[in-house]
Amino acid sequence: LEDPSFSAAVVKWQKSHGRHALPWQNTRDAYRIWLSEIMLQQTQVAAVLAYYARFLERFPTLHDLAAAPSEDVMAQWSGLGYYTRARNLHACARRVVEEYGGVFPSDPALLADLPGIGRSTAAAISAFSSGTRAAILDGNVKRVFARVFGIDEFPGVKAVEDGLWRRADALLPAEGIESYTQGLMDLGATLCTRSKPDCARCPLRERCVAYATGRTAELPVRKPK
Ligand code: ADE
Repeated sequence: LEDPSFSAAVVKWQKSHGRHALPWQNTRDAYRIWLSEIMLQQTQVAAVLAYYARFLERFPTLHDLAAAPSEDVMAQWSGLGYYTRARNLHACARRVVEEYGGVFPSDPALLADLPGIGRSTAAAISAFSSGTRAAILDGNVKRVFARVFGIDEFPGVKAVEDGLWRRADALLPAEGIESYTQGLMDLGATLCTRSKPDCARCPLRERCVAYATGRTAELPVRKPK
């Protein structure tokens, strides 16, 4: 399963064609990275940008957020949707202050124990904020893997998802986890889109089962009814 050329192709592509100037990039500030990852869980980059800037103006530090009344947090979130995220965000801020003295842990297993942070978000936060080697597997990455590896089972099934996590772990590069993680996200968001993927520009085209077999439209398999 190990294949350093997979991560090398993603990293090389990210450096020249990936996104490098998003407001939560080029920082190791875990507060800013965490906030971006929570906002981006169910909302696209374009919609997040304005909320992210305003949120940080109102709550410049984790301590400001933890100390704020819930009403203020909910008001700043208003319009972004999926309001459980905002309640978890506030609870998480308070726990990091209480349990970790205001410093986010770098261990993804500890991060994943905090409200609103699942396994993939924990890995993204620790990769971007401390270079920790941990695998992400969000919806976009599942789509990339389902196509590249030609996985023709619904990824919502536990056993299929477990298999994807095993692949995600095995594919991690020895170094450069930040570029690799960002590269996978960028590939899924900009080229390997759900409809009309831009295979002509894809660095994984030559190894992509879906491309080779003309099945990009069928993969990933949709939820069976
Ligand atoms: N989606 C989730 N995390 C992201 C990130 N760090 N950059 C761009 N899109 C994302």
